[in-house]
Amino acid sequence: MNSSAAVTPDPGLEIIFSRCDLAHPLLREFHEAVRVFRERDQRGQRDHAGAPVDGPAPQASERPPAEMPEAKPDLASLVHRDAELVSPPDIFLQIEKVINDPRSSARQVAHIVSQDPGLSAKVLKIVNSAFFGFQQQIDTISRAVTILGTRELSSLALGTSVMSLFRESPSSLMHMGLFWEHSLACGICARLLAGFKNFQGLERFFISGLLHDVGKLIIFKYLPRWSEIVLRSVRDSDLFYYEVERQHLGFDHAQVGLALAEQWKLPTTLEQGLGRHHEALRVPPSAEAAVVSLADTIVNALGLGNSGERRISPDIIHIFEFLSLPVGIMENLVPLISRQIEETFHLFYSST
Ligand SMILES: [Fe+2]
Ligand SMILES: [Fe+2]
Repeated sequence: MNSSAAVTPDPGLEIIFSRCDLAHPLLREFHEAVRVFRERDQRGQRDHAGAPVDGPAPQASERPPAEMPEAKPDLASLVHRDAELVSPPDIFLQIEKVINDPRSSARQVAHIVSQDPGLSAKVLKIVNSAFFGFQQQIDTISRAVTILGTRELSSLALGTSVMSLFRESPSSLMHMGLFWEHSLACGICARLLAGFKNFQGLERFFISGLLHDVGKLIIFKYLPRWSEIVLRSVRDSDLFYYEVERQHLGFDHAQVGLALAEQWKLPTTLEQGLGRHHEALRVPPSAEAAVVSLADTIVNALGLGNSGERRISPDIIHIFEFLSLPVGIMENLVPLISRQIEETFHLFYSST
C-alpha cells in the first residue's frame, strides 16, 4: 500500500501512532487505512474534552490542581460505596432471572421489556436500525425477542441502562457524548470482529466493548481531582492512560471495571473484556479480551469518540496475529463501523 503525503494536516495522527514503529509493514498498512479514513472524517480531530486536538494545551497543565487530590482509596471500596453500583440495573436482573429459569419462555422476556415503555421504544428503534440491518420492519417487542433471541435483548437492556446510569458527566473533564461514542463504536467493532471470527454470542462482545472503559467513569465520579491529574499526565507524557492511572492511583480503570463485573456477576466474557482489554495477551491470552482490545485500538485510531486515550499500542499487530485477522480487514470493517455508529449513536445515547 502506498504511503502518501497527507493531504489534510492531521495533528492527531502523529500523536496516536507515536509509540508505534511505522517501519513495521503491518503497522504502516494499518496507519494508511486510518489516515485515509481520518482524512475524510473529521471526528478524530477532537480531544476527550471535546476541544480541537491541536488546540492549546489547557493552562491548568502548568500548575498544580487547585485542591489537593482525594485520599487514595483502595480499589474494592470504589465499587462498593455506590448504592447504584451494588447491583446491576433492575431490568437486566429481571431478564437474566427469566433466561436462567429452564421453564421460562421468550414471551416472559418480552413482557418484562414491555413494562418499560422507554426501553421498549429504544429497543425497537435499535432493532430497526443499521445495527442489525434487518430488511423487514419489526414493530413489537415480542417479535424482536423472537427474531433476536433473549440474550440479545438482555444485552441491549444492560447496555442502554448502564448508559443512562452514567449519562450525566461525572466530571467536567470528560465529554460524555464523546466517551459514549467511543464506547459504542468499540462495542460495534468488537461485535463485527467476533462475527468475522465466527465466535458465538456476538451480543456479549458488543456489551463488553460498550462497557470496557466504564471503570474510568467510576474513577471520575469518586476521584475527580485524581482524574484531572491523570488526564493531564496522559496529555503531557507519552504513557498510555492505564499506565498513568497505575502510576498515580496504584490501579487502573480495567481493574475497576473487573471489580464491577464481578460485583454484578456478569458472564466471564464480559469480565475478560472489561478487566483485560489492556492485557489481552498476558498468559493465558484471552480471545474475548483480544477482540475488545483490537476494537478499542481501531476506534481510538479512527478517532470515533474519545475516552481520554491519546495513543495506540504497537501490540495491535500481535493481536491481529493472535486472532488470525489480516490488517486488510480494515477495508471491510471501517465503512461498517462508520455507518452503524452514525445511524445508532443517537438511539443508544438519547435519554428517551
Ligand atoms: Fe481502557
Ligand atoms: Fe477505550
